[in-house]
Amino acid sequence: MTARVMTVAFAGIDTIPVDVQVQMASGLPAFSVVGLPDKAVSEARERVRSALSAMGLALPPKRITINLAPADLLKEGSHFDLPIALGLLAEMDVIGHEDIANFVVLGELGLDGSITGVGGILPAAMQASGLDRGIICPADNGAEALWAGDLEILAPSRLTGLINHFKGTQILSRPCAPKVSSSPLSLPDLRDIKGQESAKRALEIAAAGGHNLLMSGPPGSGKSMLAARLPGLLPELNARQALETTVIHSVSGMLPEGGLIRTRPFRQPHHSASMPALVGGGHRVRPGEISLAHHGVLFLDELPEFQRNVLDALRQPLETGQVSVARANAHVTYPARVQLVAAMNPCRCGYLGDNDLSCTRAPRCGEDYQARLSGPLLDRFDIQIDVPAVTPEELDLPASGETTQVVRKRILAARETQSLRYKNDNILTNAEADGEVLQKAAVLDEDGRALLQDATRQMKLSARGYHRVLRVARTIADLAGMDNVKRGHIAEALGYRHMAYRR
Ligand SMILES: Nc1ncnc2c1ncn2[C@@H]1O[C@H](COP(=O)(O)OP(=O)(O)OP(=O)(O)O)[C@@H](O)[C@H]1O
Ligand SMILES: [Mg+2]
Repeated sequence: MTARVMTVAFAGIDTIPVDVQVQMASGLPAFSVVGLPDKAVSEARERVRSALSAMGLALPPKRITINLAPADLLKEGSHFDLPIALGLLAEMDVIGHEDIANFVVLGELGLDGSITGVGGILPAAMQASGLDRGIICPADNGAEALWAGDLEILAPSRLTGLINHFKGTQILSRPCAPKVSSSPLSLPDLRDIKGQESAKRALEIAAAGGHNLLMSGPPGSGKSMLAARLPGLLPELNARQALETTVIHSVSGMLPEGGLIRTRPFRQPHHSASMPALVGGGHRVRPGEISLAHHGVLFLDELPEFQRNVLDALRQPLETGQVSVARANAHVTYPARVQLVAAMNPCRCGYLGDNDLSCTRAPRCGEDYQARLSGPLLDRFDIQIDVPAVTPEELDLPASGETTQVVRKRILAARETQSLRYKNDNILTNAEADGEVLQKAAVLDEDGRALLQDATRQMKLSARGYHRVLRVARTIADLAGMDNVKRGHIAEALGYRHMAYRR
């Protein structure tokens, strides 16, 4: 008889059911795994053999074949250990075939029979639930499977615990949901930033409409400080967004304590990041930073220091909201709808425009430095602002600006207006509005239209630039609680596109 255990293989965030077939036949003793296993799956043999012998079980001297079907799909990862071990145990009559018939099984084995955590439990549990099955997964990931719904979950920490459960001598209880701490996260407050009123205003607009933001200014003017205050200004993820974001983090094996991700991700990769690290790819086509920031913020500090080809690889996902990584035999797609925030100095020395501090190469050094950013990338920033140095007088004043809480209230109100407006369009923010939806949402008065048309001609705005100005103006009007977009809103939005114009 052949024992069969169901598990899954991953293609991005999608799961593909894999049938693990275990057969013990008479013949010369052998143990082989077939069905396109990668190195980690092939090594499962050694881990499984040791885990069984740690329980005092030796593999029978037979010809053991493990087939992973479908045979033409590449199997990657260490989560095949547990299904292989359970298939062997069923063939050895330690557990019943029917015990494991209604489960999807994932888990890595230690040599001592312990079951260690693996990535991707949440999408696997969702797949299991769709197939009307339960899931057997490591104890470390048990809480993660809870978010997939009402399915049966067995989350043992050791192989012996699972065998005892099937024998009825020690019942495994359903994992508990992780405790959500009731105290608010200690995020830095906007009030700490002295001066920089216009930069704070731009940050508020960016947060309200989900717009991409680029800050340029001399060293130590507070750009990184401003960006760090953005997560505190953003609303929590809704249920659908939370699940989508959590699935990506689950696949990358980075989910903290199995909890659902409720706060918006804020990812700030270092500027030495490689292409696979930022957009995804590499050995097992892991999601990149842009996907880990899905529904949140991707913050690129010191933007021109990033490799040029890496930055340009962001252009397409920024428009489409997803990233496709090509492999030899398949394309893997990850969602990547992010708000891009970036900070940069205006030149290499950092003090371009300051006659006392700028270097002798000004303005050439500024032109060279800014030329590292391609025009199309710059075009994707809806809001581009200068963050000038703060004066000693401003620094000397006590902190008196608005707190994050006050500004956040206005942002939440503007977001509410947007989600009501777009409720039939399947989007939530002005930044996502496009084509006819945007045209209908941003109705201009005569003055506003004339100004936008004049400015488009004079500033040589691209069609994308035109629409981005319109979106930002819509957000400014939303923050002001106005139904129509007026000339003043357009004027302010145009003021935020001066960098692309300057080049
Ligand atoms: N507006 C400000 N109000 C209060 N403190 C500030 C302000 N700007 C800068 N600082 C102080 O300067 C430090 C550095 O600020 P920050 O890292 O944000 O600068 P930056 O603009 O990102 O500089 P760089 O271009 O070198 O990265 C902060 O930790 C803070 O102590
Ligand atoms: Mg900085």
